[in-house]
Amino acid sequence: MCGIIGYVGKSTKAITKTISCLEKLEYRGYDSAGIAYINNNQIIIKKERGRIEALKKELDFNTNSNLAIAHTRWATHGDANNINAHPHQVGHVTLVHNGIIENYLELKDMLEKLGYTFKSETDTEIGCAMIDYLYQKNNNHLKALNELTKILKGSYALGIIFDDDINTLYAIRKDSPLIVGINKDEFFIASDIPAILEYTNKYITLEDNDIAMINNEVKIYHHLKEVKKDIQSFDYEYVNQDKGKYEHFMLKEINEQPAIIYNLLNENLDNNLKDLPDLTHYKRIDIVGCGSAYHTALVAKTLFEEYASIEINCYIASEYRYQRNFYTDKSIVIFISQSGETADTLACLRKVKDHNIPTLAIVNAYGSSIAREADQVIYTKAGSEIAVATTKAYTAQVTILSLLALKCAYKKKIITSLDDIKESCHQIKDITNKLIKNTDYLKIAKKIYKKRDIFFIGRLIDYATALEGSLKLKEISYINSATYPAGELKHGTISLVEKDTPVITILTYDAIKDKTISNIKEVKTRGARVIIISNQELDSQLYDDLIIIPKVNIFIQPILTIIPLQLLAYHVAKLNKCDIDKPRNLAKSVTVE
Ligand code: G6P
Repeated sequence: MCGIIGYVGKSTKAITKTISCLEKLEYRGYDSAGIAYINNNQIIIKKERGRIEALKKELDFNTNSNLAIAHTRWATHGDANNINAHPHQVGHVTLVHNGIIENYLELKDMLEKLGYTFKSETDTEIGCAMIDYLYQKNNNHLKALNELTKILKGSYALGIIFDDDINTLYAIRKDSPLIVGINKDEFFIASDIPAILEYTNKYITLEDNDIAMINNEVKIYHHLKEVKKDIQSFDYEYVNQDKGKYEHFMLKEINEQPAIIYNLLNENLDNNLKDLPDLTHYKRIDIVGCGSAYHTALVAKTLFEEYASIEINCYIASEYRYQRNFYTDKSIVIFISQSGETADTLACLRKVKDHNIPTLAIVNAYGSSIAREADQVIYTKAGSEIAVATTKAYTAQVTILSLLALKCAYKKKIITSLDDIKESCHQIKDITNKLIKNTDYLKIAKKIYKKRDIFFIGRLIDYATALEGSLKLKEISYINSATYPAGELKHGTISLVEKDTPVITILTYDAIKDKTISNIKEVKTRGARVIIISNQELDSQLYDDLIIIPKVNIFIQPILTIIPLQLLAYHVAKLNKCDIDKPRNLAKSVTVE
């Protein structure tokens, strides 16, 4: 989390360019924003609590500058205030940081004994002082940064200016993403590639412990030796940061789903799934992810197990990386990530690779760390997702996983023909569009938006979707919601159900529909307000509101089921006047543990 950007070049518009790139990184955190730029040989620092918009009001964009670094913060150490905002400056060093310096207390102690004093509560200021100390000791910028790589523990991407070398931008990274953008007569550093696409699509990827020294050219050093790097080209869809006719990016992204799902399904089915990997060779399949990405693994579990007879183990990445993992000689681990940069998921990938186990990544962001480092990658092709709460990337992940499960079922001849599913996939765009437009989600949202507790229930695949629906609601509306397998609620939590408590029930899975109906009756009897999302008409005694979704092939069904829940969460959040695209405390790309 946190986004960093830097500029050095012939243009005197460093402030304008840096800030316009920084705005593309605001999804990484928005607690405060700051910039340091060179003007008249001086380093000027401006920082403001809150959004980049607040910082912009403090800047004169006509000020000439050829070099700048900037930062948007997701607070980890210390409150979101001006003192803790980046850039930080100690002695000769001014810097911006993304990541966490884990041994900062130890370093602080050492530096205080050497006479350093600190203004902020951040780990970053300690890192800044450490560089200053190492620079004074080595009297050489590169040597100081190289020694730093041996001292710092944790993760960091740093953009650095030394006050006695103000025409050079230094950059260094470990376990936090950082690229160097290359254009005619100008260079950038950035936390991701889309941030700089307005200016250039050429870039160099920095690897752990690379040090970039950038002035009128770029030199990359690794352990003090200069290394040559390939210049890569990012040739994918340009980030469209325009909401168009929509009030929020989230709503826009929900409405982009029909085309994304249609394209993914049909391009794979048209060639009989031949471009997708065949997972039937493996004896053990683990799927790893965080947040919504983890929920997609749970959806896939039912499809693989019930319809392709292949066992799936689902893991939350922050747990998987520290637990004992059981591999066989025929294991594969699948990593799901929208950003391709989530720290825990990336750490798991590296752990699995250390065991020489094959890895497959399902990723949305082109060129991201997980996409680069996995043995195989399938891109979800959902386009850039701006709203922090994922919608279209989630459905694209579910689509790919469903197709992988379908391929296994087909390979194993459990399913002998793809004709039926192909037929329904040709209609999927229309079906999904109608699902988005033809139900009055706002009307149902109005009945529940003032509640402080909402329950979600479902069984098996419906439980997995319920978890995602509940997460959407929590993320953007701040309403507490809990999700249970429908049969489990009565083992304690049903004590919380009282008159009018909303219980949102997912009921699409025929195999155990009747069991879930019994559970609905249990909560209805206790006065719950029951909202059912189902693919069939039901006895009106069962519910207060019924949202009907089209009944489609089971491999496609979960792609549709989540959509009403996304829209319900959206309208509930809107009625509560929440900041839908940038919910409090969250960040879209979680690059710290
Ligand atoms: C954050 C986001 C979630 C996302 C999760 C995993 O918590 O707010 O929406 O599901 O990270 O992100 P990834 O980029 O790995 O899919």
